[in-house]
Amino acid sequence: MSKISELKKINVNTFKLMKVEGEKIATLTAYDYTSAKILDEAGVELILVGDSLGSVMNGYENSIPVTLDEIIYHCKSVKRAAKRAFLVADMPFGSYQVSDEKAIENCIRVIKETGFEAVKIEGGKNRAALIRKLTDAGILVMGHIGLMPQMVNVMGGYKIQGRTGHEELLSDALALEEAGAFSIVLEGVVASAARIISKNLTIPTIGIGAGAGCDGQILVYHDVFGLFDDYTPKFVKKYADLKTVVNEACSKYIDDVKTVNFPEDKHTF
Ligand code: KIV
Repeated sequence: MSKISELKKINVNTFKLMKVEGEKIATLTAYDYTSAKILDEAGVELILVGDSLGSVMNGYENSIPVTLDEIIYHCKSVKRAAKRAFLVADMPFGSYQVSDEKAIENCIRVIKETGFEAVKIEGGKNRAALIRKLTDAGILVMGHIGLMPQMVNVMGGYKIQGRTGHEELLSDALALEEAGAFSIVLEGVVASAARIISKNLTIPTIGIGAGAGCDGQILVYHDVFGLFDDYTPKFVKKYADLKTVVNEACSKYIDDVKTVNFPEDKHTF
């Protein structure tokens, strides 16, 4: 058992220590009380309430329609469950782009109303000044560069980044680190670039579709446990097939109700 797995509560310093000691950081998304409780008890170090909830919880085509109120609603449920994991709220599209003042107000609202420890914001150098202001205001920020789902319309789809070199991504990552970000998500980045970026930062990188050279990994709950199959990106590894499990159990339930095999005496008052 590592020193980290014995910790009662993960905080921002845990991640610095893990990077120094070369212990990989295991993180996942969650959006509700029951799922967050399972992840927390299993020992993930960080839970992100991602705007991916737009797809897997709401059935939107992408994350663009997700609102700040929706993020806050889901964060509150996760917070009631998670006792040990570090909690990060994803700032949705439109909540930090209008002005730095509005962004700071929205981030303060999230931190105050949810009890979460940090927020996540997409963007590179263009967000460094905002991240500096947030950090100065006492708000921990996780950066997010590479494939940025909130830019899907501008990018004309979900495009893997870093194919033509790592320089631009590395300078974005360094700008975020310099601005005070405590960690950076690298999404959809070629593995060689992600490895170089991770080596050149003192803060940990958390990869999704960015290879094994990152300091930690994140995946979406519904992908990892096989609950969501509208589409499955190449970077997803399914650790369970819960859709099949629930589907078979549901068929059995329907059958039992129709044949009056449920409820039995033991379920009856
Ligand atoms: O919204 C999300 O879930 C994310 C992660 C997968 C990084 O941004």
